[in-house]
Amino acid sequence: MKKILFSLAVIIAAVTAQAKTLVVYYSYTNNVNTIVNELTNQIDADVVRIEPAEKGLDYAANNYAIGSTLISAIRNNPNDATSYPAIDPVNTNLADYECVIIGAPLWWSNMAEPLDPFLTDIRSFNVD
Ligand SMILES: Cc1cc2nc3c(=O)[nH]c(=O)nc-3n(C[C@H](O)[C@H](O)[C@H](O)COP(=O)(O)O)c2cc1C
Repeated sequence: MKKILFSLAVIIAAVTAQAKTLVVYYSYTNNVNTIVNELTNQIDADVVRIEPAEKGLDYAANNYAIGSTLISAIRNNPNDATSYPAIDPVNTNLADYECVIIGAPLWWSNMAEPLDPFLTDIRSFNVD
């Protein structure tokens, strides 16, 4: 799966070779971080690593209890901003980029929740 995602990212990056690219990712145990490092050794891109505002959480503890609780809250109340984990501020102007590559681990068959607040911001961002 990692190879497929990595290949896909390289293809997307090649197609948009002239475009300014932003890679936004979250990584808990650094697998996605490794993929992003490999990718950015091959393409020119700015990189933003999303970090949860609450530090030191053990997402694997108690059979991944925190991740389960987060995803339940989002599924139950997807339109409630408090369902989503707070993240550190991202000071990136999306208008500067033609291509945005998202890197996310799977958590309970979904994108890891810490990326949700950033993508919600993207959805509210007016792009052509
Ligand atoms: C809370 C949590 C839930 C996960 N759920 C899944 C899952 O549903 N399917 C899966 O294949 N892997 C799952 N994983 C494993 C991660 O997706 C996998 O280890 C990934 O490579 C982690 O990326 P990272 O090292 O960048 O954080 C889960 C991991 C955590 C911490």
